[in-house]
Amino acid sequence: MIILLKYIKIKTVCIKTMEKYIINGGKALQGEINVAGAKNLALKIFPATILCAGSCLIDNVPEIEDMQRLIELMQDLGAEINKEKHGQYTINTQNINKTELRPDLVKQLRASIMLAGPMLAKFGQITLAHPGGCVIGQRPIDLFLEGFQKLGAQMIDNGSSYTLKAEKLKGAKIVLPKISVTVTENLIMAASLATGTTEIKNAAMEPEIIALAEFLNTQGAKIKGAGTPNITIEGVASLKECDFTIIPDRIETGTFTLLGLITNSQIHVNNCNPSHNENLLYSLKKAGAKLEIGKDYIKTQPSQLKATNIITHEYPGFPTDLQAPFTVLMTQAQGLSLIHETIFEARLFYTDILNQMGANIIMCDPHRVVVNGPTQLHGRKVVSPDLRAGMALVLAALIAKGTTNIENIYQINRGYEDIVSRLQTINADIKQINE
Ligand code: EPZ
Repeated sequence: MIILLKYIKIKTVCIKTMEKYIINGGKALQGEINVAGAKNLALKIFPATILCAGSCLIDNVPEIEDMQRLIELMQDLGAEINKEKHGQYTINTQNINKTELRPDLVKQLRASIMLAGPMLAKFGQITLAHPGGCVIGQRPIDLFLEGFQKLGAQMIDNGSSYTLKAEKLKGAKIVLPKISVTVTENLIMAASLATGTTEIKNAAMEPEIIALAEFLNTQGAKIKGAGTPNITIEGVASLKECDFTIIPDRIETGTFTLLGLITNSQIHVNNCNPSHNENLLYSLKKAGAKLEIGKDYIKTQPSQLKATNIITHEYPGFPTDLQAPFTVLMTQAQGLSLIHETIFEARLFYTDILNQMGANIIMCDPHRVVVNGPTQLHGRKVVSPDLRAGMALVLAALIAKGTTNIENIYQINRGYEDIVSRLQTINADIKQINE
């Protein structure tokens, strides 16, 4: 109940922002859309540069609000971050001279917690307020604090913030009671410069974790087992700088594939890695989707879709970040679909907005909804509740009869680069107005 009230509160507060999307639905889309660099990797690679001495050139960085907030946070600490060109940055963190993160920025960005492990390992201290981010659940940080303390850090609760201190982190065996992506990534980074060996049991296995380990190992780290539930890190004295290119964003890949099917269009999703979307593609095939899958592209064709159940699960299961866009697709499929969200306890409340647009979705409990399709959606004024649900509302608006106004679009621009012009290139009738 508390989460629902918090969710409603955030929703009302967000209405004040005056930027909005205006979308006229019902048009068939056509053409090619390029996938940007992975947000949930770039938000870890930038903090990881704190671990090395020197300057790193990072390419294919998504130009999104979350990255700008992270850059502001790191520059406030003293890091030198220069934009060389669109999507390319050089980062030098040697002159970091502060260990307290700006609370106002931490509140806006859950991923600010990614600075904790590297700062603790390199500078021996960090102070941060409880991170904010999407209102999709409690988002506790107990596993981070426990993990850092297992590595020898001392934790001081300052009331509105935590301070973590460690002369020198020491390797340890850490068994995670829950699979957590950012906890796994933080502990890998902290352990890279610790004394001795660290074992992480029940680690997350996302492709972004494999890429992070590759980045660190190129710099001289000794990380084995990334992409499996058991990761071993042998601490080293120092890491040397290196250049790196961010992998394609698998959530954008899935979102644009769903966009093509939702709008019954021929869309060519480019610059992607379909092998990172196998679970989604399995469910889409089961639903009757007509897809052509290449090495670095996916093409959608108009398809007759039937209702299909999904259950979200950590990678390689069905990604929770694609649950909302998939639910929009199921409003257009024939029959009853069960959508079971197992990871976050407040990530299905956006379905009440879809029902206001004409969908027929019944909430069984905070983790499960049943979608009864197909239904004709109708445009209306809506507020984006969070990043992925906000994008799902864009997809719904593109097939709705009439016009949809979406407010609080910061929640969408924080994770999708230049989304209005990319959608316009495939004939979507969308524009952003700032009233
Ligand atoms: C990452 O969030 C992603 N964010 C999320 O994407 C993604 O939905 C999520 O992983 C799951 O795949 C980034 O990488 C920046 P978790 P994260 O820790 O790491 C519980 C998006 O839309 N938990 O894997 O914060 C937690 O409550 C975002 O791009 C604790 O209990 O998610 C949840 O139930 C949204 N204690 C479960 O673990 C902790 O200390 C998994 O969360 C930490 C987490």
